[in-house]
Parts: sequence; structure tokens; C-alpha cells
Amino acid sequence: MMLQNWAQFALTVGVALAKPPISKQYATGNFEAKCASIASKLDVENATVYFSQFVAAGQNLSIPDRNVTCGPPYQAVSADLCRIALYVATSKSSGINMEAWLPSNFSGRFLSTGNGGLAGCIGYDDMAYTTSLGFASVGANNGHNGTSGGAFYNQPEVVADFAYRSIHTNVLVGKEITKKFYGSPHTKSYYLGCSTGGRQGFKSAQDFPEDFDGIVAGAPALAFNNLTSWSGHFYNVTGPPGSETFVPTAMWLTTIHEDIMKQCDLIDGYADGIIEDASTCKYNASSLLCGGSNTDSSSCLTATQVETVQKVFSPLTLSDGSLVYPRMQPGSEGVAAFAVYGGAPFIYNVDFFRYAIYNDPNWNPLTINETDYINAAIKNPSNIDTFKGDLSAVQARGAKILHYHGQMDGIITSENSPRYYEHVSKTMGKTPAELDDFYRFFRISGTGHCQGGDGASVIGQALQSFQSTDPAENVLMAVVDWVENGNAPETIVGTHWVNGTQSAGVDYKRAHCKYPKRNVYKGKGDPKAVESWECVEERSTKTDPC
Ligand SMILES: *[C@@H]1O[C@H](CO)[C@@H](O)[C@H](O)[C@H]1NC(C)=O
Ligand SMILES: *[C@@H]1O[C@H](CO)[C@@H](O)[C@H](O)[C@H]1NC(C)=O
Ligand SMILES: *[C@@H]1O[C@H](CO)[C@@H](O)[C@H](O)[C@H]1NC(C)=O
Ligand SMILES: *[C@@H]1O[C@H](CO)[C@@H](O)[C@H](O)[C@H]1NC(C)=O
Ligand SMILES: *[C@@H]1O[C@H](CO)[C@@H](O)[C@H](O)[C@H]1NC(C)=O
Ligand SMILES: *[C@@H]1O[C@H](CO)[C@@H](O)[C@H](O)[C@H]1NC(C)=O
Ligand SMILES: *[C@@H]1O[C@H](CO)[C@@H](O)[C@H](O)[C@H]1NC(C)=O
Ligand SMILES: *[C@@H]1O[C@H](CO)[C@@H](O)[C@H](O)[C@H]1NC(C)=O
Ligand SMILES: *[C@@H]1O[C@H](CO)[C@@H](O)[C@H](O)[C@H]1NC(C)=O
Ligand SMILES: *[C@@H]1O[C@H](CO)[C@@H](O)[C@H](O)[C@H]1NC(C)=O
Repeated sequence: MMLQNWAQFALTVGVALAKPPISKQYATGNFEAKCASIASKLDVENATVYFSQFVAAGQNLSIPDRNVTCGPPYQAVSADLCRIALYVATSKSSGINMEAWLPSNFSGRFLSTGNGGLAGCIGYDDMAYTTSLGFASVGANNGHNGTSGGAFYNQPEVVADFAYRSIHTNVLVGKEITKKFYGSPHTKSYYLGCSTGGRQGFKSAQDFPEDFDGIVAGAPALAFNNLTSWSGHFYNVTGPPGSETFVPTAMWLTTIHEDIMKQCDLIDGYADGIIEDASTCKYNASSLLCGGSNTDSSSCLTATQVETVQKVFSPLTLSDGSLVYPRMQPGSEGVAAFAVYGGAPFIYNVDFFRYAIYNDPNWNPLTINETDYINAAIKNPSNIDTFKGDLSAVQARGAKILHYHGQMDGIITSENSPRYYEHVSKTMGKTPAELDDFYRFFRISGTGHCQGGDGASVIGQALQSFQSTDPAENVLMAVVDWVENGNAPETIVGTHWVNGTQSAGVDYKRAHCKYPKRNVYKGKGDPKAVESWECVEERSTKTDPC
């Protein structure tokens, strides 16, 4: 837990955040007493209410029964709220643990948080973040406890909870509880999630269009089956450490990353270690081939290693040429070198294939090959794929989707996001100008998986990545402003903190562009000034989504 950030968060914005609009209709009388008695008054179908508990602003909430793999057993909370915990059966053999956090300073807005990885972990930090902004927030454990996928083994209903049912149930029950507690229904309904949480946001948009009025979906794990194939295939590319094909981690972090910057950093007009649109970078690693004057094996690559790097930055295809997943985007080595190029199987790939695809704990991730890719795509348990291109139901009811993806994401390639956007465009027969009405996608440069990174990565996507409640600089408040006031975001301004540390202050801000535009330096002016950059139109016609 980032305590320093939390303290800073409370200090810098506490006052501003403490004043969300409060509507008279939610006057709650004696809040503590109301909270104490609500548990016994809730009568929700299929649910068992465990407890309700008043949590005072500033409290370091103790969560003793949180699974140890999910994070520390406490959460700092900055709003007075009523915490309600319950279990909801979702089938004869599965169910979710969920919580509703209902703030005393309720803005009328309901919000569901999402999950991450294969995890069954309630997103307490997201709940703390959003309740501090006045949302009534719910979070669920995705149908199982802990970060592993072991609970999927021979339990298709648990997989179904993970694929779609946990969030949907959480929303239905959460809205009902919110209404019962405050005495009238919420005004608007929102979603905030990243990674698996980003996929869950799109799952709602695709299959449960009534659930939300505004969705923030970051780095979405779309085309989930193929994504796990792709995550697993890196082992096949690198081989284990020490093998001829293996490229040492230090090499990725320094020599290769620097060579990528040498070839690609200036494409956006300014060399600052940030590639604004990573899809423009057609990196060629043969520049690092040992030979001639370059013979130092700590700074050059063998021909076999060059091939490894080229494969990493090439799309994963079947032998017939059909696409499984787009390439890793160059620039993300800082995360990817550890996450997927380390010469070991990727944990999510292993668990998903063993327990959700094959139901075989002995499936061997070391021999992963295209038979596995095909099997996963065919099995597609509970349609976890989440790649439906028709979003017309969400559009028809006036809901809005804000999709973002970090351009240094080393866990889910940022190139899958424009692929999905183009798939929606093609499926619905709509140009970007037409999609703008309800669906906008932003490439967030200098940003790793969901948050963190070398650039202006702070866009209000999480408690630890928060600078301002200004909709111009906060993806959640941006979608609220879009839904409630019709102010659709043209850019998302990100902040880079000095040294990447909030307490050290703001280094610079940069406005991230709405796809298909991309950000370029104007060629003059302070490169740290937002105005020195502009979004230019350049839609790639090469992207064939299918
Ligand atoms: C709730 O909002 C009121 C009025 O804006 C403010 O005075 C109060 O400090 C807030 N309380 C909490 C716990 O956030
Ligand atoms: C919350 O409590 C835990 C355990 O007692 C402690 O380690 C942590 O520093 C506390 N956090 C805050 C913000 O006080
Ligand atoms: C309650 O659970 C049953 C199956 O176990 C399901 O058919 C029904 O839709 C559930 N009710 C609600 C409100 O979710
Ligand atoms: C998950 O943990 C909660 C306690 O936080 C417990 O009530 C529940 O039974 C657990 N669920 C499963 C499926 O183990
Ligand atoms: C905690 O999570 C781990 C990893 O997912 C799991 O193996 C373990 O059973 C969980 N513990 C409990 C008590 O549920
Ligand atoms: C990668 O897969 C191919 C085809 O299945 C296989 O021949 C090769 O040995 C694998 N490489 C590694 C490092 O496992
Ligand atoms: C990379 O550069 C080498 C040497 O200039 C060239 O032979 C090769 O075709 C290039 N590879 C790609 C994938 O562009
Ligand atoms: C997943 O990969 C299979 C090949 O194994 C391909 O046929 C399918 O189109 C891919 N799905 C997506 C959504 O890209
Ligand atoms: C390819 O994957 C299949 C399915 O997991 C497995 O049975 C087979 O042994 C693998 N092939 C090789 C050459 O390792
Ligand atoms: C920058 O961050 C590092 C750790 O990431 C820390 O050791 C150093 O003191 C920080 N410098 C400043 C000026 O904040």
C-alpha cells in the first residue's frame, strides 16, 4: 500500500473531495445508526448479509479475512461510510463475496469496481478512491478468493462468475442495496476497472448494456483466450535462461530499450524516452547484431537472440498465418523483461490453461504450441473472450465508454486496443467520428500496465495515480462529465511527477490524444508544456482487425 501517496492524496485533495454534490433526497439522518441497522433490513434474493459497519473518515480499516495473496489486511478510508458485506449465490455451485461502501456524502452516483489478473480480490483501494469522490461503490471477489486460478478446476460456474457473472450480479445487488440504504435510487451508474477490470467493463458494454451509464475501461484484457496464449508463448520464444534463444533481462532493460529509443523516440518529434504512439515503432534489432566493431556480448546480440527480439515484436500467428494476438509494442521492456521475457511460464497462462481450458493440473506450459492456442480459442469458456464488435445497445441507451491503454504496457500489448476499436468500427460500420458519440479510446504514452511508467501516466485511474478531480485530468470524472453534462473528452491530460513521486511535485503534464489521432511535438516551445504538443490525424489503414 502506498501510504505516502495516500497521505499526500488526503492532503492535496481531501478538502476538494469532501464536497461532492449532496442531494437532499439522500439525507440520511443518523448515519451511524442507520448503518448499524441496515444489515437486518436487507432482504436480497440469493444473498446472505454478513454485517454492516460504520467506517469513519481517516480510519485504517482492518480487513482480517482478506486472502493474503490479495494484498495487506487493511485499507485507509477517507470518507465516512457504511460498509456492508454479503455473499450472493450465483448458481448451485458458486457465488460471490461482495461489499457495498455507501458514503455519507453520497453524490447519487453508483459505481462498480473491477478485478485484476485471474484474481478473486475485492478492489478495496478502488472502493476507497471512489467513495472519497462521493460514489456508492461496490466490489466483488469475482467468485473465488486469491490471485490464483486454481478455483476454476472442474468448476465451470466459478469460471462463469469470473467471465461475466460476478460484476453483473454485483451491480444488480449493489443498486438494490444502494436504493434501500438511501431511500431512493441512484442517479447514474459508473464502472472503473483496468486489465481484467478493463475486460469486465467491455463485457458489461457488450452483454449487459443496462448496467452502466459510463464505463472507464483501461488496458482491457480483450480476446482473453488468445491473450493468455500470447502471454504463454513468450516462453516458447525465449526458452529458459541460458539457452541460445534467451536474452538476459539486463539486456532488455538497457541495451535493447535504449536501441528502441534510438530508432523510435523521435518519431513523435521529441526525444524524451517516451514513444507517444508505440504502434509507429517498427523496431529492427539487427542493429545490435554482434560483429565488426561490436563484439561485446553484454551489449550485442547473437543472430539467434536478434531473432528472439524480432519474434517478440511480431504478431503471434498460427502456421497458416492467421492472427492469434498482436505483437508486443516496443518500449515496454521495463515491465515485460520481468513479466514475460524472463524465461519462465506466465502464471496467468498456466492457471488459465490448466484449470479453465483443459481441467488438467498436469498441462505442461513448457511445451505450449499452436494446438493450445486453437484449443483455448475454441473452448472460450462462458464467452470470456469479450470481443463482440457490436456495441449498439450501449450506444442506443446513451451510455458512454472511455477506453485507455498505456503505451508502455508490458503485460497486455497496447496494440490490441486499437485492434478492438477498429473491430467495433468495422462491425458497426461507423467511422471514428461516428463512434465518438459514445465510445472514445485514448493512447496514454509513457504508461505501463494500468498505471506507473516513465511519462505522464497519472490520469486519475486509481488511488495511487491521482492528481486532480478536474475532468480534463481524471478519467473517471471525465466520463461523469460526459454522461451528465455532455462534455465529451477530446484529450486526457496526464501528469508526470518529479522522479515519479507525488510528494516531489509535478514535473510536467501532457495531453493524451483520442484515437486515431496521435500526439506529436510541434517542433518548438517547452516540450514540458501541454501546448507544445498537438494531436494529429493519422489513421492507420494497415490495421486489419480480423
Ligand atoms: C461531507 O460534505 C460536507 C459538506 O460538503 C463537509 O463539510 C464534510 O466534511 C464532508 N464529510 C466527509 C466525512 O467527507
Ligand atoms: C494501517 O494498519 C497497518 C497494520 O496495522 C499498518 O501497517 C499501516 O501502516 C496502517 N496504514 C495507515 C495509513 O495508517
Ligand atoms: C438466484 O439464483 C438462481 C440460481 O441459483 C438464479 O436462477 C436467480 O436468477 C438468482 N436470482 C437473482 C436475483 O440473481
Ligand atoms: C472468500 O473469503 C470470504 C471471507 O473474506 C469467505 O467468507 C468466503 O467463504 C470465501 N469464499 C470462498 C469461495 O472461499
Ligand atoms: C488464498 O488465495 C490462494 C491463491 O489464490 C489460494 O490458493 C488459497 O486457497 C486462498 N486461501 C483461502 C483461505 O481462501
Ligand atoms: C517452441 O515451439 C516449437 C513448435 O512447437 C518447438 O519446436 C520449439 O522447441 C519450442 N521452443 C521452446 C524454447 O520451447
Ligand atoms: C532489419 O534490418 C536488416 C539489416 O538492415 C534487414 O536485413 C532486415 O530485413 C530488417 N528486418 C526487418 C524485419 O525489417
Ligand atoms: C484467436 O486465435 C484464433 C486462432 O487460434 C483465431 O482464429 C481467432 O480469430 C482469434 N480471436 C481473436 C478475437 O482474435
Ligand atoms: C502441443 O500442445 C499439445 C496440447 O497441449 C500437446 O499435447 C503436445 O504435446 C504439444 N506438442 C509438442 C511438440 O510439445
Ligand atoms: C527519487 O526516487 C528515488 C527512489 O525511487 C529516491 O531514492 C530519491 O531520493 C528520489 N529523489 C528525489 C529528488 O525525490
